[in-house]
Amino acid sequence: MSDIINIALPKGRLGDRVYEMFAAAGYRCPEIENPGRRLTFENPEAGVRYFWVKPSDVAIYVEKGAADIGVAGLDILSEYRPDVYELFDTGLGKCRMTVAGPRGFKDDRKKTLRVATKFANVAKDYYSSTGRDIEIIKLNGSIELAPILGLSDVIVDIVETGATLKQNDLEVKNTLFEVSARLIANKPSYRFKRERITEIKNRLTELKSKGE
Ligand code: PRP
Repeated sequence: MSDIINIALPKGRLGDRVYEMFAAAGYRCPEIENPGRRLTFENPEAGVRYFWVKPSDVAIYVEKGAADIGVAGLDILSEYRPDVYELFDTGLGKCRMTVAGPRGFKDDRKKTLRVATKFANVAKDYYSSTGRDIEIIKLNGSIELAPILGLSDVIVDIVETGATLKQNDLEVKNTLFEVSARLIANKPSYRFKRERITEIKNRLTELKSKGE
């Protein structure tokens, strides 16, 4: 098998489902099913090598060519804007990018709006399109805490089931866009390993259309 394809998977629940999709498409890798502390897994017969990375790092691995392809959420891609090709919407990891805040919160446009988020670029773009003055409070997790503790007025964050918001007396004020996990490719890899990358994309596409 020529051209082993290096694949960056987002570590965690989404990554497990993405791997299952690749496995069902013919790219199973028995090593990955008993991982221990290893981070790379190879199946030369299937011509694939997987590695688990932090979900927010997938785009960097692919952009820099450490991985030929990878799967990253549209939330991450919208924030980091890597110079990669987006090949396919896996339909996995569906959620929404939203503005959320305390129930009953009314925006006072005379004041600068304090926005807590992991997605500073997404938030800046959204509020600049609405002409609203904001201050970004960049956090790395547990964003919902910020309005509860008075650190921010609202948050820009992903919402999946809505349970986290609900249990913290917050609500969605606005949906910015729908998110799902996308197959992305490094640009030079796509040129030089086009046949194999296209084969993977086609098999995933076929699998998805059968499941729909
Ligand atoms: C994400 C997101 C919300 C939560 C939404 O956090 O930032 O906090 O999931 O999911 P829900 O609508 O189903 O409740 P994540 O679990 O990735 O952890 P984080 O707080 O470290 O960002």
